Amino acid sequence: MRLILLGAPGAGKGTQATFICQKFGIPQISTGDMLRAAVKAGTPLGLQAKAVMDAGALVSDDLIINLVKERIALPDCANGFLFDGFPRTIPQADAMKAAGVKLDYVLEIDVPFSDIIERMSGRRSHPASGRTYHVRFNPPKVEGKDDVTGEDLIQREDDKEETVRKRLDVYSQQTRPLVDYYAKWAEQDPVNAPKYRAISGVGSVDEITRRAMAALSD
Ligand code: AP5
Ligand code: ZN
Repeated sequence: MRLILLGAPGAGKGTQATFICQKFGIPQISTGDMLRAAVKAGTPLGLQAKAVMDAGALVSDDLIINLVKERIALPDCANGFLFDGFPRTIPQADAMKAAGVKLDYVLEIDVPFSDIIERMSGRRSHPASGRTYHVRFNPPKVEGKDDVTGEDLIQREDDKEETVRKRLDVYSQQTRPLVDYYAKWAEQDPVNAPKYRAISGVGSVDEITRRAMAALSD
C-alpha cells in the first residue's frame, strides 16, 4: 500500500497515520517529523529549516524532494509507505510523478479551519515516535507522558495561534490546489493515477479511523 494523507495542519494526519500504518505494516513518512528531528539533532538541514518552520512557512521544494527520495529508497519502503505532510506543493507532486513513484490512494481528511486552532493549542507530541495526543480530545493515559514509552510529551514550537493562522494561509495557497490536482488526475487517467478519496475529519478519533479504513478498502 502506497498512499498520501492530505489535509490542513491539525486535520489529524499524524493521528490517523499511526493506525493506517499499523494496519498495512508500512512506515509513516512525515516530512514534518523528519525536519523536526533534523532541527533537534542540529544537522545542516535542521539549521536551514528551523526559522522557516517556526514562521509557519514551507521549506524549499528541492530540499524536501531530495529528503523524500532518499527515504523511499530505504528497504523498509519496499512494501509501501504513507506520506504525511508530503507532497505539499504542485512541484513536489510533479517530482513524484516524474520519478515514477506509483501510488494507490490519496486520502484527504477535511476539517473546518474553525476547529483547527483548538486542536493545535491542546496538542502534545512524542517526537521520537510521532505519536500525537490532545489534552482534551485524545489525552494520554498519564498526563504529559507517552502511552508506550512513558517519555515526556512536548508542545510544538509552531503551535502558537499566530503561527497556526499563518500555516492555514500557506495551506490554502500552496497545498489545497493538490486536492484538484489528484481529483482531476484520477478522473483523466484512472489506470495510472492514485484513487482519490475524501473523508470528513470531524468526529472522534475512532470514527475517523473507521472512515479512513472504509475509504481505503474500495
Ligand atoms: P507538519 O509536521 O507536516 O505539520 P502540518 O501539516 O501543519 O500538520 P500537523 O502535524 O500540524 O497536523 P496533523 O494533520 O498531523 O494533525 P495531528 O494528527 O497532529 O509540518 C510542519 C512544518 O514543517 C511546516 O509548516 C513546514 O515548515 C515544514 N514542512 C513539512 N513538510 C513539508 C513539505 N512537504 N514541504 C515544505 N515544508 C514542509 O492532530 C492535531 C491535534 O488534533 C492533536 O492534538 C490531535 O490529538 C488532535 N486530534 C486529532 N484527531 C482529532 C479528532 N478527531 N478530534 C479532536 N481532536 C483530534
Ligand atoms: Zn502531523
